[in-house]
Amino acid sequence: MTTNQIRQKYFDFFQKKQHEIIASASLLPDNDPTTLFTGSGMQPMISYLLGQKHPKGTRIADSQRCFRAQDIDEVGDNRHTTFFEMLGNWSLGDYFKEEQIPWMWEFLTQELGLDVSNLYVTCFVGSEELGIPRDEISAKLWQGLFESKGIEAKIVEDAEQKGMQGGRIFYYSEKKNWWSRSGLPQNMPDGEPGGPDTEMFWDFGASLGLHEASKWKNEPCHVNCDCGRFVEIGNNVFMEYQKVNGGFEKLAQQNVDFGGGLERVAAAVFNQNDIFKIDLFDGVRATLEELSGKIYGEDEQDTMAFRVILDHMRAAVFLISDGAYPSNKDQGYFTRRLVRRAIQFSTRLGITENFVERASGAVIDTYKDAYSELEERRSEIVGVLQKEEEKFRKALDRAQKQYQKIEDDIKKLLEGLSNDNADDAAYEKLAGISSDLYQTHGLPFEIFLEFIEKLGFSVDEHKLARAFEAQFKKHQEVSRQGADQKFKGGLADHSDMSVKYHTATHLLHIALRAVLGDHVQQKGSNITPERLRFDFSHPEKMTDQQIVKVEQLVNGAIARDYPVTWQEMKVDDAYGQKVIGFFPEKYDEVVKVYTVGDPSHPGNANPDEPTFSREICGGPHVEHTGVLGKFTITKEESCSAGVRRIKAILE
Ligand code: ALA
Repeated sequence: MTTNQIRQKYFDFFQKKQHEIIASASLLPDNDPTTLFTGSGMQPMISYLLGQKHPKGTRIADSQRCFRAQDIDEVGDNRHTTFFEMLGNWSLGDYFKEEQIPWMWEFLTQELGLDVSNLYVTCFVGSEELGIPRDEISAKLWQGLFESKGIEAKIVEDAEQKGMQGGRIFYYSEKKNWWSRSGLPQNMPDGEPGGPDTEMFWDFGASLGLHEASKWKNEPCHVNCDCGRFVEIGNNVFMEYQKVNGGFEKLAQQNVDFGGGLERVAAAVFNQNDIFKIDLFDGVRATLEELSGKIYGEDEQDTMAFRVILDHMRAAVFLISDGAYPSNKDQGYFTRRLVRRAIQFSTRLGITENFVERASGAVIDTYKDAYSELEERRSEIVGVLQKEEEKFRKALDRAQKQYQKIEDDIKKLLEGLSNDNADDAAYEKLAGISSDLYQTHGLPFEIFLEFIEKLGFSVDEHKLARAFEAQFKKHQEVSRQGADQKFKGGLADHSDMSVKYHTATHLLHIALRAVLGDHVQQKGSNITPERLRFDFSHPEKMTDQQIVKVEQLVNGAIARDYPVTWQEMKVDDAYGQKVIGFFPEKYDEVVKVYTVGDPSHPGNANPDEPTFSREICGGPHVEHTGVLGKFTITKEESCSAGVRRIKAILE
């Protein structure tokens, strides 16, 4: 069995249980103002869990690609990755525990053939304070299933202190068995849905000695211990609560949100306790072995470097495919950081030549059947990565020279570190230097640390990292003020002509997405009574045919003379209805949505359909598109890396 086959088996299984299989949403959420990336399968489903009708019904399954930026520093062990696929199935007020648990059992043990004796599960212990009962129903369901296979399944508590105690089913507190986007029940804001969960674990076996080799060796090993012996392969969340006035109330419907890491499920199927040795990494691993002349797994430090590159190249390929081109802010910052770290770790492996072309090509080869868009956009993705590699290698040279100039200053600061009182200020100054080197030369923090090491000093890396992050945030805030401008629609005045150009900008935006793809996002807009200017993410020059097609769509919408109206709605509802809007950090709870056409349908940029566009926006706009006149694109040019600029006029 291959991992690609496991994904397919999951789809087939849930299709047989009357589920609709939906495509993975983008890694860049357009329905979740709480985060930069899609980090779990349920994020794109929030509005449906809260009761909105899903167009595909009440039983949905998918494999959602996810990116967890916060895990970047964890990568290097046997199981952490920043990018992963999450198998998901949802009951939107349809089935509940009695169906979900036996189905999971059937899928794992019959479809995938997992050995029951290596499976363990956890359930929520309950909390008086929260007013949420112990999940005895789940525990009993699991117990019955284990016993049907002749396995006595003891239910135990306090595994953190007392260890396994011969148990098979374990009760844990909300720290382990509760799920919401904001984590613990105490951290959930009002309105947020969440619920207790029951998780499934695979045991790679005590004989590997992972626990004894870990830093937890003096504490009891249990399924939620971090030593790596057990790996969580799936989480069934019983999403039936909502935070209301600081307490919990039942939602109008009982939902199931199942999420299981595809790579971890595969690791269990292959009984391979190193995720980077599953087949999805074979191609890239072999490429790196060839380039470096080293063998994965032979040396601990090298293996760590292999893992970082394997993870980061894969994540960067998918991020770019979803439109996050390397840049200094927002999502693109993470893509840049991944590529740069991968290059940095490649030098540790002894790879001296440019390698991202081959490595990213190997990622695409592995995934092209499951994600045809990667094959379609191969040259663009690889091209963006190659450019970033070249840029970074040049930046490294420049930074090296710059660094040598300030080496003495840095040395002085480092020497001062032994004096405790001066520490904080010195760390702040060091962080400031590192942040400047980052802003001006793109030199990653990690490389700054290496410089320091080479000078023969040691610093508190975490403390310095925190100081660096603080400086970095400050810089982000300054650039965000630029986003304010963008959010205002770039409207310089409210003259009749400017208002017309503003409406034309909405028509253009959705038409570009229809012609070029959903990776197109507004990056800036500027309107005068003479013309509109629109910046958007897109990696290459538009062809003449594409420009003509966009003009035709916009002029078609004008000819159709659609009404333009607006409504106020909750931001989540707006996203649930596929409304366009890319400045989540700017949105209030309630937003204004402008619709060109009929507000009861999603906009699809087709003048033959009732609705052309729906977009979050403060206005103002014309009342009918017919007044706009004739739309012409006068210029299409590059604006910055991965961003194009269009100028257009109305006559
Ligand atoms: N949403 C749940 C998780 O991410 C399934 O673990």
